Amino acid sequence: MFKSLVVANWKMNPLTSEEALRLFKIVKKELKNIENNIQIVICPPFTQLSTLSSQLTTNLELGAQNCFWEEKGAYTGEISPKILRNLDCNYVIIGHSERRKYLGETDKTVSKKLKAALKNNLKPILCIGETQEQNRESKTDKVLIHQLQMALENVSKSEISNYKLQVAYEPVWAIGTGVTPNTDEIMSVKLLIRKILAKMYSRSIAEKVRILYGGSVSSKNAGDFIKHTGMDGLLVGGASLKATEFVRIVKNVIARSKFRKG
Ligand code: PGA
Repeated sequence: MFKSLVVANWKMNPLTSEEALRLFKIVKKELKNIENNIQIVICPPFTQLSTLSSQLTTNLELGAQNCFWEEKGAYTGEISPKILRNLDCNYVIIGHSERRKYLGETDKTVSKKLKAALKNNLKPILCIGETQEQNRESKTDKVLIHQLQMALENVSKSEISNYKLQVAYEPVWAIGTGVTPNTDEIMSVKLLIRKILAKMYSRSIAEKVRILYGGSVSSKNAGDFIKHTGMDGLLVGGASLKATEFVRIVKNVIARSKFRKG
């Protein structure tokens, strides 16, 4: 079984590189002696990546929150996967619902970014999730299947083999609200994602994709999300900005991963 993964999505925080470094160093120090069965990925704003890149360890890696699909050229304001690789970034979040909602991210752009990330040896963390309205209308499965299929439309088996892809189920209505699906609901989404991946590729490829849950994760619910849903890890937003809370989440994941279902 592969390592559990905890991703910290700092979003547009903190406001300075000094603060980012301080936060990172506390997490690093607190988790210095952690077991080898966990991978932690910190995704700060682009401007803080170079400050943090000197601090990495085998368990503590860097990710970006977005990337462009071209490698270089006249694309004002964009950051390419190649630039990210040159900053020691190993992962990239793609298709976060906040980008879909506020920044015009579409299934098409998500698909292009995913392909470009893989081509440049960045491991994508693909975010999919239904809105509250879609959830209320029982359209969750349909929406997730659609988003997954569109994102992976042009991606071949070999491109996602060997644990390169992570899919994060992030119900839009659970992000930053303190409200979450129950563990049965999360488990059924995990099984659905695996099933779709197995259909698109093969069972063995699907089993090598890490499936994460994100949305109002805290130290109170993190352990249950791992133990009772079989999720391979968590994507943590707000709670990752408080060092002690984030460290608690990671420790809970380590403790519960051993008992994980499915
Ligand atoms: P949250 O955010 O943990 O603050 O709900 C999760 C995310 O948006 O990735």
